[in-house]
Amino acid sequence: MTETLERPAAVGGEHNAATATALLPPLQLGPITVDTPVVLAPMAGITNTAFRRLCREYGGGLYVNEMVTARALVERRPESLRIIKHEPDEVPRSVQLYSVDPVTTGHAVRMLVEEDRADHIDLNFGCPVPKVTRKGGGSALPWKIRLFESIVATAVREAARGNIPVTVKMRKGIDEDHLTYIEAGKVARDSGVVAVALHGRTARQHYSGQADWEAIARLRESLPDLPVLGNGDIWSAEDAVRMVEQTGVDGVVVGRGCQGRPWLFGDLQAAFEGREDRYRPGVSMVCQTLLRHAQMLIPYFDGDERKAMQDIRKHVAWYFKGYPVGSALRTQLVTVESMAQLQELLDQLDQSIGYPGDDAEGPRGRAGSPKKVHLPEDWLASQELNEDQRQMIQDAEVDTSGG
Ligand SMILES: Cc1cc2nc3c(=O)[nH]c(=O)nc-3n(C[C@H](O)[C@H](O)[C@H](O)COP(=O)(O)O)c2cc1C
Repeated sequence: MTETLERPAAVGGEHNAATATALLPPLQLGPITVDTPVVLAPMAGITNTAFRRLCREYGGGLYVNEMVTARALVERRPESLRIIKHEPDEVPRSVQLYSVDPVTTGHAVRMLVEEDRADHIDLNFGCPVPKVTRKGGGSALPWKIRLFESIVATAVREAARGNIPVTVKMRKGIDEDHLTYIEAGKVARDSGVVAVALHGRTARQHYSGQADWEAIARLRESLPDLPVLGNGDIWSAEDAVRMVEQTGVDGVVVGRGCQGRPWLFGDLQAAFEGREDRYRPGVSMVCQTLLRHAQMLIPYFDGDERKAMQDIRKHVAWYFKGYPVGSALRTQLVTVESMAQLQELLDQLDQSIGYPGDDAEGPRGRAGSPKKVHLPEDWLASQELNEDQRQMIQDAEVDTSGG
């Protein structure tokens, strides 16, 4: 249970979970077999090539990138092209698209297919941030069920030209009075997706409270013929096993739980293979991982060390959650300017300090309280689009970062 493993397993497809004691069979997404049915949740600003590499070095699974806005992609904005980059050894290449209109969705998927830039496409219908929902996008969109259907069907049709499977990731709905997940799940299935993932919260909940695993179980029951993936509040491999047992899902999607601890994917693989070994890293392993993460962000940002340092700062508190790192050092780490300085700061830590136990476990990352959901005018009045809304949707694609 508490074996300490210091070295990640090799990157690649050698992680075959299909042992006699495997918790679940491999996840089949069209032509793609995911041996360990674990998905790294797309997280804007987090799940870039650097972080994905760290995660996939520890275990099998599907590693989705940050969401990219369909329109920005079609317009070939440099930041969007950066977001969809994959390393040569990253297979399958998974891209998450955000879009509010079927035409742009179609163009973006066609571009991914024709230019051979993805092996799997996920569609984001879960983002709760005001900038997105105010335009009818993300978690606001499945409420307009025919628009949702049209976007999903278009993506599936275009992706089929390259034999690329499409999945949908969604929330329960806008709020408890406007739940959409069951209907949206069925519509997505009938439109040809190969799996749906449900984050067991409404948009109104944002990241507050607890994810509703019962809703996940209900969706699993409602879609007997389609893989359903459960998402929300998996902080440990034990949580993942519990979710599978309680909901019957075919796989799990893990977001905040792996922030600052990419080795969670090693624990998940072990748990799904029925093993009990877990990573229990001491300070030295945390420092080495943080340094490597920072180092790998430099090529991701085209050699811009300053940008890489700005990016790594947000990971510091997650990496050191529960570890005895004084506040003065933490403050310096979150304003770090260069790799040399990062190394010098980490050298100040006692590298012999071991794993701190429970303090390093549990919730991390975004939390907070419920929030008003900002929606277009009269959005909830009907599940059909009115003329104004139709017009707005056409103009609406925003360049944003998700959630
Ligand atoms: C910083 C951050 C960025 C996120 N960005 C995205 C995104 O780009 N696309 C998406 O579908 N969900 C996004 N999410 C939501 C996660 O994918 C996931 O559904 C959510 O965090 C719940 O899972 P968890 O409890 O395992 O964190 C984001 C979440 C966080 C915390």
